[in-house]
Amino acid sequence: MAKKNTIFICQNCGAHYSKWQGKCDSCGEWNCIVEEIENNDDFSKINTKKEGRIIDFVPLKGTMQTYARLQTGIKEIDRVTGGGLVPGSVILVGGDPGIGKSTLLLQVCAGLASQSEGKDCYYISGEEAIDQVRIRANRLGLAESPVNLASATNVHNIITTLEKTEAKIVIIDSIQTMYLDEIESTPGSVGQVRACAYELIKLAKRKGFVLFLVGHVTKQGEIAGPRVLEHMVDTVLYFEGERGHHFRILRAVKNRYGATDEIGVFEMQDKGLVEVENPSALFLAERQGNISGSCVFAGIEGSRPLLVEIQALVSPSGYSSPKRAVVGWDSNRLSMILAVLEARCSMNFSAHDVYLNIAGGLKISEPAADLAVAMAVISALTNKALPADMVVFGEIGLSGEIRSVTQANLRLKEAQKLGFASAIIPPVFGKDKKEKGLKNYDLSCYEIGNVHRLINWFN
Ligand code: TYD
Ligand code: MG
Repeated sequence: MAKKNTIFICQNCGAHYSKWQGKCDSCGEWNCIVEEIENNDDFSKINTKKEGRIIDFVPLKGTMQTYARLQTGIKEIDRVTGGGLVPGSVILVGGDPGIGKSTLLLQVCAGLASQSEGKDCYYISGEEAIDQVRIRANRLGLAESPVNLASATNVHNIITTLEKTEAKIVIIDSIQTMYLDEIESTPGSVGQVRACAYELIKLAKRKGFVLFLVGHVTKQGEIAGPRVLEHMVDTVLYFEGERGHHFRILRAVKNRYGATDEIGVFEMQDKGLVEVENPSALFLAERQGNISGSCVFAGIEGSRPLLVEIQALVSPSGYSSPKRAVVGWDSNRLSMILAVLEARCSMNFSAHDVYLNIAGGLKISEPAADLAVAMAVISALTNKALPADMVVFGEIGLSGEIRSVTQANLRLKEAQKLGFASAIIPPVFGKDKKEKGLKNYDLSCYEIGNVHRLINWFN
């Protein structure tokens, strides 16, 4: 048999190479180049002489189709998707294996099925056998839900079957297990994932059903198969959380039908995922007052305020280059904060290991957490506790100045709601003060302009 031509494709950005190499020249990623059978994407086969059909242009101004969104009955999902599911839209749900994607989608499917007596909700599992899904449904108390369930991986079979249905919602769990016979690479490779997704998306758009694609995340934190899929779909949701914790965050990173950065908070219980109505209270539930190294940060996730505890530990180092370990925040940002505190407040961390943890397994990316991190670190270093009923937010600049952040009122309102008595915040300047000005709160707000004044709080 003639040897098939193979080609090496970067699984991260899709760049092609004729032989294997450790690093992709195009995107700079390591260990992401994989051998695949050469595809038929040969441009020389395109017949440029072929007559096309005239396309119609219309004025920008015109009437629009309004989407009647499907409400899933799970408020957190409706919020993250921008107010419900849009018919014909394709939603990619990414996350680490075992985080709860199948559980969440089975709950969504069952929720929608019970609204419509189940004629139109299809759950196709490529990873688990029917019995395994049934066991899960039993555990979730959804065994009676009228969901149409199948275990299949051949995309042609799936498409032929769905063609004949009036499907409203289809869940494919997961896209990495699906395959098309024509593509010779293994399921889960870029070629297969892209082709399978393409075929399924085409069907979803034509038939107008909501398509959920589950995608596993690789170690690098991208959906395997990967970026290629992100721009083929309408919405990308990431399901994140630490394995040992029961909080799960569903985060919209792309949404053609709503705002991004919106989050939904769930708690994994023994009967499945439960929506969390008041996440701040939950994230602060296990906090112990009057402990050094702890500081409550008033953050914003999407359109929602979220209070979390930032914990720091500073201990004498036995290493020549002291250790900095961070969970849930950016480690470069921690180094920067430590450098600012050393340079502007004459503190010395060079003989200390510094550990930073966002309690509850949440990941924060807001620079507004800078000030809370600085407070937690100073508190740990000096072994002096901050008042337990104080919240903090603000961004720190390299010269030690504390910069204002967005949505101060929303953050303070949430803090007040949860019974906090004081807040350390960035200065609210002239125009801002007049126009957006801080509303009246029961909690006392202390505006601080520079990090060298922070130390005063610890005397
Ligand atoms: P699963 O949905 O299978 O994860 P994924 O599809 O993302 O790989 O979730 C698996 C984990 O969730 C598993 O470790 C057990 C836990 N779990 C619960 O804690 N409670 C439950 O009710 C269910 C169904 C799962
Ligand atoms: Mg699964």
